[in-house]
Amino acid sequence: MRDQGVTVWLTGLSGAGKSTIATALTGELRRRGRAVEVLDGDVIRENLSKGLGFSKEDRDTNIRRIGFVAELLARHGVIVIVAAISPYREVRDEVRARVGDFVEVHVRCVLEELVRRDVKGLYHKALAGEITNFTGISDPYEEPLSPEVVIDTTDETLADSVARVIGALQRAGYLEEDLAA
Ligand code: ADX
Repeated sequence: MRDQGVTVWLTGLSGAGKSTIATALTGELRRRGRAVEVLDGDVIRENLSKGLGFSKEDRDTNIRRIGFVAELLARHGVIVIVAAISPYREVRDEVRARVGDFVEVHVRCVLEELVRRDVKGLYHKALAGEITNFTGISDPYEEPLSPEVVIDTTDETLADSVARVIGALQRAGYLEEDLAA
C-alpha cells in the first residue's frame, strides 16, 4: 500500500525548538524510509513569503501559503513537517480543515527560558522595544485548544519530544508501528 501523507504542524513561540524538532524528526522518519519535507517559517519567509511582515494579515497569508504547499506535498505520500510560529488559532484551524491529514504539535517553553536562551537575540531586542509586534512579548500567541501532541522543551529532551510525535503518528495510522524487539 502507498504511504499515507500527513502534515505535522509545529506551532509555538520563536526559539521554543520547532526547527530543532523538525530536523530531528526528519532524520527519524527518513530512517524509517519515509519521504519528508520541512516547511520552516524562517526559510519560507526568504522564498515563498519574501516581503511579508508580522502583522496579523501577513502572518495569516504566510500560514495559508504554507498550508497550501503542505497539502500538495502530503497528497503524494510525503510527511510534511511545518515549523512556523503560526500564532493565530483561526487560520491554523482553517488550514487543518483544508489539509485534512493534520497532526498539530504545540511546542511550548516558558517565556523566562526563551529570554534566557535567546538564540537569535530577538527577545532582548523585543523587550528593549527595538522590534515591535514580537510574538509572546508585544504580539499575541493563541495556544491550540486540542493539539494531538504538547511538547515542553523547558525540561523535555529532544529524543523524548521526537519519540512522542512518532508515537502520535503511529497511533493515528500515518506511520507503521515499531516491530517488537
Ligand atoms: S509566523 O507568525 O508567520 O508563523 P514565522 O514562523 O514564519 O512566523 O517566522 C518567525 C520568525 O521570524 C522568528 O523565529 C524570528 O526569527 C523572526 N521574526 C522577526 N520578527 C518577528 C516578530 N515580530 N515576531 C515573531 N517572529 C519574528
